[in-house]
Amino acid sequence: MLVLIDHANLKEIESLYEAYPYDGVTTNPSILRNEHTNPIKLLKEIRKLIPSDSQLHAQVISDTTEGILEEAHFMLDAIAEDMFIKVPVSAAGLKAIHLLKKEGVNVTATAIYTAMQAFMAGKAGARYTAPYVNRLDNMGADGVQVAADIHNMFRIHNMECDVLAASFKNSQQVLNLCKKGVGAVTAAPEVLRALIKHDATFTAEENFENDYLSLIEEVKGINLKR
Ligand code: G3P
Repeated sequence: MLVLIDHANLKEIESLYEAYPYDGVTTNPSILRNEHTNPIKLLKEIRKLIPSDSQLHAQVISDTTEGILEEAHFMLDAIAEDMFIKVPVSAAGLKAIHLLKKEGVNVTATAIYTAMQAFMAGKAGARYTAPYVNRLDNMGADGVQVAADIHNMFRIHNMECDVLAASFKNSQQVLNLCKKGVGAVTAAPEVLRALIKHDATFTAEENFENDYLSLIEEVKGINLKR
Protein backbone atom coordinates (compact mmCIF):
# COMPACT_ATOMS: atom_id res chain seq x y z
CA MET A 1 0.00 0.00 0.00
CA LEU A 2 1.48 3.36 -1.02
CA VAL A 3 1.40 6.03 1.67
CA LEU A 4 1.33 9.63 0.46
CA ILE A 5 1.36 13.01 2.18
CA ASP A 6 -1.80 15.09 1.72
CA HIS A 7 -0.20 18.47 2.28
CA ALA A 8 1.60 21.28 0.46
CA ASN A 9 3.83 22.85 3.09
CA LEU A 10 7.45 22.42 2.00
CA LYS A 11 8.85 22.27 5.55
CA GLU A 12 6.28 19.66 6.62
CA ILE A 13 6.93 17.55 3.53
CA GLU A 14 10.70 17.78 4.01
CA SER A 15 10.46 16.85 7.68
CA LEU A 16 8.16 13.88 6.95
CA TYR A 17 10.46 12.61 4.19
CA GLU A 18 13.49 12.94 6.49
CA ALA A 19 11.80 10.51 8.89
CA TYR A 20 10.27 8.06 6.43
CA PRO A 21 10.40 7.20 2.68
CA TYR A 22 6.86 8.22 1.71
CA ASP A 23 5.50 7.50 -1.77
CA GLY A 24 4.46 10.97 -2.82
CA VAL A 25 2.44 14.10 -2.20
CA THR A 26 -1.18 14.84 -3.00
CA THR A 27 -2.74 18.29 -3.00
CA ASN A 28 -6.10 19.84 -3.70
CA PRO A 29 -7.04 23.52 -4.18
CA SER A 30 -7.94 23.92 -0.48
CA ILE A 31 -4.58 22.47 0.63
CA LEU A 32 -2.78 24.86 -1.75
CA ARG A 33 -4.80 27.82 -0.47
CA ASN A 34 -3.43 27.16 3.03
CA GLU A 35 0.09 28.01 1.79
CA HIS A 36 -0.86 31.52 0.52
CA THR A 37 1.58 31.48 -2.38
CA ASN A 38 1.67 30.90 -6.15
CA PRO A 39 0.34 27.31 -6.42
CA ILE A 40 2.17 26.39 -9.62
CA LYS A 41 5.49 27.64 -8.24
CA LEU A 42 4.83 25.72 -5.03
CA LEU A 43 3.96 22.50 -6.87
CA LYS A 44 7.22 22.83 -8.86
CA GLU A 45 9.13 23.20 -5.60
CA ILE A 46 7.40 20.14 -4.13
CA ARG A 47 8.31 18.18 -7.27
CA LYS A 48 11.96 19.21 -6.86
CA LEU A 49 11.96 18.43 -3.14
CA ILE A 50 10.61 14.87 -3.23
CA PRO A 51 12.48 11.88 -4.76
CA SER A 52 12.03 11.34 -8.51
CA ASP A 53 10.18 8.04 -7.91
CA SER A 54 7.65 9.73 -5.61
CA GLN A 55 4.28 10.71 -7.05
CA LEU A 56 2.89 14.25 -7.19
CA HIS A 57 -0.90 14.73 -7.56
CA ALA A 58 -2.53 18.11 -8.22
CA GLN A 59 -6.12 18.97 -9.01
CA VAL A 60 -7.88 20.91 -11.77
CA ILE A 61 -10.67 23.36 -10.91
CA SER A 62 -12.48 23.71 -14.27
CA ASP A 63 -15.99 22.29 -14.61
CA THR A 64 -15.93 21.79 -18.38
CA THR A 65 -14.08 19.06 -20.26
CA GLU A 66 -12.23 21.63 -22.39
CA GLY A 67 -11.23 23.62 -19.32
CA ILE A 68 -10.00 20.50 -17.50
CA LEU A 69 -7.89 19.46 -20.50
CA GLU A 70 -6.41 22.94 -20.82
CA GLU A 71 -5.51 23.05 -17.12
CA ALA A 72 -4.09 19.53 -17.21
CA HIS A 73 -1.84 20.36 -20.17
CA PHE A 74 -0.70 23.55 -18.47
CA MET A 75 0.24 21.69 -15.27
CA LEU A 76 1.98 18.88 -17.15
CA ASP A 77 4.08 21.46 -19.06
CA ALA A 78 4.77 23.71 -16.10
CA ILE A 79 5.31 21.16 -13.33
CA ALA A 80 6.09 17.64 -14.55
CA GLU A 81 5.01 15.42 -17.43
CA ASP A 82 4.62 12.37 -15.19
CA MET A 83 2.56 14.05 -12.47
CA PHE A 84 -0.94 12.84 -11.63
CA ILE A 85 -3.80 15.13 -12.66
CA LYS A 86 -6.67 14.96 -10.18
CA VAL A 87 -10.07 15.31 -11.81
CA PRO A 88 -13.37 15.40 -9.85
CA VAL A 89 -15.86 12.77 -11.07
CA SER A 90 -18.49 14.97 -12.74
CA ALA A 91 -19.82 14.08 -16.22
CA ALA A 92 -17.38 16.61 -17.73
CA GLY A 93 -14.66 15.14 -15.54
CA LEU A 94 -15.28 11.58 -16.70
CA LYS A 95 -15.02 12.68 -20.33
CA ALA A 96 -11.78 14.50 -19.56
CA ILE A 97 -10.41 11.43 -17.75
CA HIS A 98 -11.10 9.33 -20.86
CA LEU A 99 -9.38 11.84 -23.16
CA LEU A 100 -6.39 12.33 -20.85
CA LYS A 101 -5.94 8.56 -20.57
CA LYS A 102 -5.81 8.37 -24.40
CA GLU A 103 -2.93 10.87 -24.25
CA GLY A 104 -1.13 8.68 -21.72
CA VAL A 105 -1.63 11.08 -18.81
CA ASN A 106 -1.73 9.73 -15.24
CA VAL A 107 -5.15 10.58 -13.83
CA THR A 108 -6.53 10.39 -10.30
CA ALA A 109 -10.31 10.64 -10.16
CA THR A 110 -11.22 12.52 -7.02
CA ALA A 111 -14.09 13.77 -4.83
CA ILE A 112 -15.53 10.25 -4.82
CA TYR A 113 -18.47 9.49 -2.53
CA THR A 114 -19.89 6.32 -4.10
CA ALA A 115 -18.44 3.06 -5.34
CA MET A 116 -20.19 3.47 -8.70
CA GLN A 117 -18.53 6.86 -9.30
CA ALA A 118 -15.19 5.12 -8.75
CA PHE A 119 -16.08 2.22 -11.02
CA MET A 120 -17.08 4.57 -13.86
CA ALA A 121 -13.90 6.62 -13.37
CA GLY A 122 -11.83 3.43 -13.51
CA LYS A 123 -13.57 2.40 -16.72
CA ALA A 124 -12.93 5.86 -18.18
CA GLY A 125 -9.20 5.35 -17.60
CA ALA A 126 -8.30 6.74 -14.19
CA ARG A 127 -5.18 5.17 -12.64
CA TYR A 128 -6.39 5.96 -9.12
CA THR A 129 -9.74 6.82 -7.59
CA ALA A 130 -9.89 8.82 -4.37
CA PRO A 131 -12.85 8.11 -2.08
CA TYR A 132 -13.14 10.59 0.82
CA VAL A 133 -13.20 8.26 3.81
CA ASN A 134 -13.70 10.66 6.71
CA ARG A 135 -16.10 12.93 4.84
CA LEU A 136 -18.20 9.81 4.11
CA ASP A 137 -18.09 8.84 7.80
CA ASN A 138 -19.29 12.34 8.68
CA MET A 139 -22.23 11.91 6.30
CA GLY A 140 -23.37 8.78 8.14
CA ALA A 141 -21.87 6.39 5.58
CA ASP A 142 -19.02 3.92 6.13
CA GLY A 143 -16.00 5.45 4.37
CA VAL A 144 -13.73 2.45 4.91
CA GLN A 145 -16.39 0.10 3.51
CA VAL A 146 -16.95 2.28 0.43
CA ALA A 147 -13.19 2.33 -0.26
CA ALA A 148 -12.95 -1.45 0.32
CA ASP A 149 -15.91 -2.08 -2.03
CA ILE A 150 -14.20 -0.01 -4.74
CA HIS A 151 -10.97 -1.97 -4.27
CA ASN A 152 -12.85 -5.29 -4.56
CA MET A 153 -14.72 -4.15 -7.67
CA PHE A 154 -11.46 -3.22 -9.40
CA ARG A 155 -9.98 -6.64 -8.62
CA ILE A 156 -13.14 -8.61 -9.59
CA HIS A 157 -13.27 -6.80 -12.94
CA ASN A 158 -9.50 -6.96 -13.55
CA MET A 159 -9.30 -3.20 -13.94
CA GLU A 160 -5.98 -1.35 -13.98
CA CYS A 161 -7.14 1.07 -11.34
CA ASP A 162 -6.43 1.36 -7.63
CA VAL A 163 -7.95 3.07 -4.66
CA LEU A 164 -6.06 6.11 -3.39
CA ALA A 165 -8.13 6.67 -0.27
CA ALA A 166 -8.16 10.25 1.01
CA SER A 167 -9.68 12.29 3.82
CA PHE A 168 -8.64 10.63 7.08
CA LYS A 169 -9.20 11.79 10.61
CA ASN A 170 -7.35 9.04 12.45
CA SER A 171 -4.90 6.18 12.07
CA GLN A 172 -7.62 3.56 12.70
CA GLN A 173 -9.28 4.43 9.37
CA VAL A 174 -5.90 3.98 7.64
CA LEU A 175 -5.27 0.66 9.43
CA ASN A 176 -8.70 -0.66 8.41
CA LEU A 177 -7.96 0.10 4.76
CA CYS A 178 -4.47 -1.40 5.03
CA LYS A 179 -6.14 -4.65 6.19
CA LYS A 180 -8.42 -4.55 3.13
CA GLY A 181 -5.41 -4.32 0.80
CA VAL A 182 -6.18 -1.01 -0.92
CA GLY A 183 -3.50 0.32 -3.26
CA ALA A 184 -2.77 3.67 -1.64
CA VAL A 185 -3.74 6.14 1.04
CA THR A 186 -2.99 9.82 1.43
CA ALA A 187 -3.26 11.58 4.77
CA ALA A 188 -2.39 14.82 6.52
CA PRO A 189 0.89 15.02 8.51
CA GLU A 190 -0.81 14.61 11.91
CA VAL A 191 -2.48 11.35 10.82
CA LEU A 192 0.77 10.07 9.25
CA ARG A 193 2.70 10.78 12.45
CA ALA A 194 0.01 8.97 14.45
CA LEU A 195 0.54 5.83 12.32
CA ILE A 196 3.79 5.05 14.14
CA LYS A 197 3.40 6.79 17.49
CA HIS A 198 2.59 4.85 20.65
CA ASP A 199 3.41 6.07 24.16
CA ALA A 200 3.99 2.47 25.30
CA THR A 201 6.80 2.14 22.72
CA PHE A 202 8.42 5.29 24.07
CA THR A 203 8.13 4.01 27.65
CA ALA A 204 9.54 0.60 26.66
CA GLU A 205 12.48 2.23 24.89
CA GLU A 206 13.16 4.42 27.92
CA ASN A 207 12.99 1.44 30.32
CA PHE A 208 15.36 -0.65 28.17
CA GLU A 209 17.84 2.20 28.06
CA ASN A 210 17.67 2.75 31.83
CA ASP A 211 18.08 -0.98 32.54
CA TYR A 212 21.11 -1.22 30.29
CA LEU A 213 22.70 1.90 31.78
CA SER A 214 22.20 0.51 35.30
CA LEU A 215 23.75 -2.82 34.17
CA ILE A 216 26.83 -0.95 32.93
CA GLU A 217 26.99 0.82 36.28
CA GLU A 218 26.64 -2.51 38.13
CA VAL A 219 29.37 -4.35 36.21
CA LYS A 220 31.74 -1.40 36.01
CA GLY A 221 35.21 -2.53 35.13
CA ILE A 222 34.03 -5.72 33.39
CA ASN A 223 34.49 -5.85 29.63
CA LEU A 224 30.92 -6.31 28.29
CA LYS A 225 32.22 -7.54 24.94
CA ARG A 226 33.74 -10.76 26.37
O1 G3P B 1 -8.02 15.66 -1.44
C1 G3P B 1 -9.07 15.21 -0.63
C2 G3P B 1 -8.74 15.15 0.80
O2 G3P B 1 -7.57 15.86 1.04
C3 G3P B 1 -9.84 15.67 1.66
O3 G3P B 1 -9.43 15.61 2.97
O4 G3P B 1 -9.46 16.16 5.34
O5 G3P B 1 -10.34 17.81 3.68
O6 G3P B 1 -11.61 15.73 4.16
P1 G3P B 1 -10.26 16.37 4.10
